[in-house]
Amino acid sequence: MEDSVAARLLAWYDAHARVLPWRSPPGTPPPDPYRVWLSEVMLQQTTVAAVVPYFRKFTERWPGVADLAAAPEETIMAAWAGLGYYSRARNLVACAQAVAARGGFPETEEELRQLPGLGAYTAAAVAAIAFGRRAVVVDANVERVVARLFALAEPLPGVRKAIRHHADAITPDHRAGDFAQAMMDLGATICTARDPKCLLCPLAGDCRARMEGDPARFPVKAPKKVRPERQGAAYWIERDGHVWLVRRPGKGMLGGMRALPDDGWSARSDGHGKQPLPGSWRGAGAVQHGFTHFSLHLAVMLYEGDRWAALQPADGEWWPLDTLDDAGLPTVFAKAAQRALMEG
Ligand code: ADE
Ligand code: SF4
Repeated sequence: MEDSVAARLLAWYDAHARVLPWRSPPGTPPPDPYRVWLSEVMLQQTTVAAVVPYFRKFTERWPGVADLAAAPEETIMAAWAGLGYYSRARNLVACAQAVAARGGFPETEEELRQLPGLGAYTAAAVAAIAFGRRAVVVDANVERVVARLFALAEPLPGVRKAIRHHADAITPDHRAGDFAQAMMDLGATICTARDPKCLLCPLAGDCRARMEGDPARFPVKAPKKVRPERQGAAYWIERDGHVWLVRRPGKGMLGGMRALPDDGWSARSDGHGKQPLPGSWRGAGAVQHGFTHFSLHLAVMLYEGDRWAALQPADGEWWPLDTLDDAGLPTVFAKAAQRALMEG
């Protein structure tokens, strides 16, 4: 069955591949490795629809890896805002610089793996898609398709080892990049999480989950842990059409990003409620934001005093309200700012 799965899937991909700005059409020479790498980093845990405009913006502004390597980290971080996972953006800069310094991307999975921020998934994806190397590429879509094809009943995460083994067995020696992207497309458009469209599926005749009758039950999930909720506050200090923004410490959550002052909430603890200025504050409601490991209830407080002199110039800057979009605030603070502007 292994070879026929690849052949059927590739034939389906030849006819149905999604057209995406970082791809070249099925069976044609691969795209610039820079574009493959950039798209794969952006696509980790973010949807294709959300990534497309960011990918366009980045490649218009920085058409090649050397352009990205030469850009100030701060500019790149600001352009990244909204995609989440800021450590990934920092690694992006480091990786671009390493690649530019060595004169281009390496071609093998092993060498790609040595670059800053390139995990097993990204190294395999770039080797296969940009260089046509045989590599076993397993993302969440591929995981779902493989778990179903082989009706793997062990729950996640334990089942991943078996998924990798079976994915390896069906990966062809040729067109590994097209095969990987075909699996992703099948998972995204046909073998979807809730409602697999088996009648349209080129692999229906190979699929054990379909034969068993309830494909949507794969991959089996372990019982879910609840995400803890944290409480915090963000502080809006406005004066003469400007708002006070701080720079977060380089390490830790949203490290190095511009932000509103806050009360020290973190993934581990609630905020301590300490206000950045003495005097009177008014509540402007709250915003909710989901991080990977916790959910944050962030109260938004508006400053009504006039003790601005107590702010330390070394800690922040007065940012013009009419260019607040350019400050590169991470989403949680952009939400808080919107709330403050609405209530202020
Ligand atoms: N998700 C991650 N990589 C992808 C790709 N190359 N095409 C479509 N979806 C993806
Ligand atoms: Fe997924 Fe159904 Fe195709 Fe099996 S037959 S791979 S469950 S869409």
